[in-house]
Amino acid sequence: MPVETDNPTDGADQATDEDARDVLVRCENLVCGYGDTAILEDINCQIERGEIVALLGGSGSGKSTLLKTMVGLLPPMAGTIEVLGRDPYRLEDDERSKLMRRIGMMFQHGALFGSDTVYENIALPAQEHTDLPEPVIREMVRQKLSLVGLEGLENRLPSDISGGQQKRVALVRASILDPDIVFADEPSAGLDPIVAAGVDHVLRQFQSLFNMTMIVVTHELESVKVLADRVLMLSDGGIIANGTVDELYDSEDKAVHDFFHRQAPDFLEAGEGNSVLAALERQS
Ligand SMILES: Nc1ncnc2c1ncn2[C@@H]1O[C@H](COP(=O)(O)OP(=O)(O)O)[C@@H](O)[C@H]1O
Ligand SMILES: [Mg+2]
Repeated sequence: MPVETDNPTDGADQATDEDARDVLVRCENLVCGYGDTAILEDINCQIERGEIVALLGGSGSGKSTLLKTMVGLLPPMAGTIEVLGRDPYRLEDDERSKLMRRIGMMFQHGALFGSDTVYENIALPAQEHTDLPEPVIREMVRQKLSLVGLEGLENRLPSDISGGQQKRVALVRASILDPDIVFADEPSAGLDPIVAAGVDHVLRQFQSLFNMTMIVVTHELESVKVLADRVLMLSDGGIIANGTVDELYDSEDKAVHDFFHRQAPDFLEAGEGNSVLAALERQS
């Protein structure tokens, strides 16, 4: 039987706890916005390796703005941002490109290139950022496509596959170089609940297979429950909640409480079974 012992270094460890954690994204007193207009102020948060963090908030609350700032596309108006230990806005081109290689992105309207095949879409980051020979890239694409159940679709055009399949292709593209962290802006937006659940499933699967860290923007409570190890919620120009789903269920903040306790949509209440069948029919 295991013997419980007091850890004699407990106290000493506390000071170094934060250093010991593998923090992949660190925002300090960050102000994000466009031109002279601040959208988010005083943003302080950290994302640790292996976490899936859901970024929640109403439409226009600044979710995409924060993501763009984190991935190096929108310089902050003030404060600091560190991604994988580097400030993306203070790097020389070659250093910046090295950093970008370790980051995967699924943009909100990040459609695939319509005139390129599934293979060409996915292979692009590998062709741009590495010197890997084509047969190796081809094998990487094949393996990852089969992980998301899309083996054999390499030569299809995006318009010839379903919306849910397109999102999976976008995820494979974002993760083709085994990035440390993937930023996904509303990866299941516009999909019906069953197909969206399938996308959530592959996100989870990629996180566990590759220990990929993910920041996923969503407004779906179901996605949050399935996906999120932790939730950051934006409102009124700042972070109003930062905690696990269980913690936020019990939040006394009205906006947080309302989100976690809102009613299911009518069609689910009317008969979940029917909606599941209808969605499956649409998918097939
Ligand atoms: N390129 C832009 N220039 C100026 N304002 C913008 C731009 N993009 C978004 N905004 C504004 O920033 C706010 C937050 O937008 P966004 O980050 O897209 O919200 P969310 O993703 O949460 O819906 C909105 O008021 C929006 O109008
Ligand atoms: Mg957005």
